[in-house]
Amino acid sequence: MLIREILKTAPAAAVMEVKGWVRTRRDAGGLSFIEINDGSCLGNLQIVAQSDMDNFETLIRKLTTGCAVRFTGKLAASPAKGQDVEFQAESVEVYGWSPAESYPLQKKRHSFEFLRNVPHLRPRTNSIGSVMRIRGRLAIAIGRFFEEQGFVQVHTPVISTSDCEGAGEMFSVTTPGPGSGGGESPCSTDFFGRPAGLTVSGQLEAEAYALALGRVYTFGPTFRAENSHTSRHLAEFWMVEPEMAFCDLDEDIDLAEKFLKFLIADVLDNCREDLELFTKFVDKDLRNRLETVTARAFARTTYGEAVRILAKSGKKFEYPISWGADFQAEHEKFLTEEVFGKPTVVTDYPASIKPFYMRLNDDGKTVAAMDVLFPAIGEIIGGSRREDRYAVLEKRMAERNIDPDAYRWYLDLRRYGSAPHAGFGMGFERLVQFVTGMANIRDVIPFPRTAGRA
Ligand code: 4AD
Ligand code: MG
Repeated sequence: MLIREILKTAPAAAVMEVKGWVRTRRDAGGLSFIEINDGSCLGNLQIVAQSDMDNFETLIRKLTTGCAVRFTGKLAASPAKGQDVEFQAESVEVYGWSPAESYPLQKKRHSFEFLRNVPHLRPRTNSIGSVMRIRGRLAIAIGRFFEEQGFVQVHTPVISTSDCEGAGEMFSVTTPGPGSGGGESPCSTDFFGRPAGLTVSGQLEAEAYALALGRVYTFGPTFRAENSHTSRHLAEFWMVEPEMAFCDLDEDIDLAEKFLKFLIADVLDNCREDLELFTKFVDKDLRNRLETVTARAFARTTYGEAVRILAKSGKKFEYPISWGADFQAEHEKFLTEEVFGKPTVVTDYPASIKPFYMRLNDDGKTVAAMDVLFPAIGEIIGGSRREDRYAVLEKRMAERNIDPDAYRWYLDLRRYGSAPHAGFGMGFERLVQFVTGMANIRDVIPFPRTAGRA
């Protein structure tokens, strides 16, 4: 039985077994008290071992933090406070020792910086364990949300030849191969016969499927060779990207708001114990902040209006803001924390600072874009209505020197049965960050990849 279940079970006379890793052991009054954890929940099970037990001196008294063990015994009501039950050991088996002299994790709390040096061991700590249980829960909730809303999950490719965001941040994928190109390109002898890379977004491929299946979403790893050493950027991160046919920007925003509220409510309901840990040690106001997000409508404003608010605010920003400039973290923070005091959706950004695929508005200078900004996190979602007019898309691509031959298939979607459609991408790690209050994005993904570190 998992410890998660055992802790909710009533004391009983039947002999049972429990397996896990030793967190701590202390001796008192001829007894040994061993706290074990099996990862199924934050809580430990306390094992009580009597000194007359077999192997008390040979095994029990040698147990240290990290050992993998199996006990048989009985569940009894616990006299100690803070726990309802304890486990009275009858026999012990040690699967694996853990030499205390070299084991990097000790009983004391370690800093997150320290733990990043032992990414293979850090899931054994309370904090990273809780983050990962919440992360896993969120991934399931994402599937449930889209299932309820009638979306089909599609698996878009990881290896791609299109730079969706057009920011030149693709990692290249190259290896010698048969090639297929004519010889002019330096990649002609490469495996794919042309330049290929790791995808920065599954959106373009998702569009092809949305224009067939109506509502689709893709959820997978995406890659960006951005050299940003911030607490919000990874070189490999997971993105959730829904795409909907027959959908305008307002419906897209409605979906995004409903989606985020659903996910946060799910964690509030189902991850109580893990959330309490973060409320206690990371952010006292966490629960309250999450509840506020689910309870109140998001603020909505246009880019133009947001720029006016920022310019008039009298606040001194490191990066001065004027129409045409992209928001920096400080601007997003000010808007969500000082001006609106809640999640804020900003729409209609200048075309010049957004990718080629966003639908041009009638003013000819802004696009039907929307970013969802969160307090503390900044941008959590980026989305838009897509340019569905063949001629306009072709012109926008030409302006950016995008080779139309490479995107012929994407243009085809506008040639045959083009329809209004829209979607967005949510950075999964940014969501996990928001929900747990964790300050650094490197601590909410199992094995973080960043510039200089893989
Ligand atoms: O705003 P972005 O670049 O949008 C797209 O890629 C669109 N193609 C999505 C779509 O419309 N289908 O990225 C979407 C989100 C951001 O809002 C942010 O939360 C996250 O992905 N993100 C990152 N998360 C971690 N590390 C990075 N380097 C990230 N870059 C973007
Ligand atoms: Mg963006």
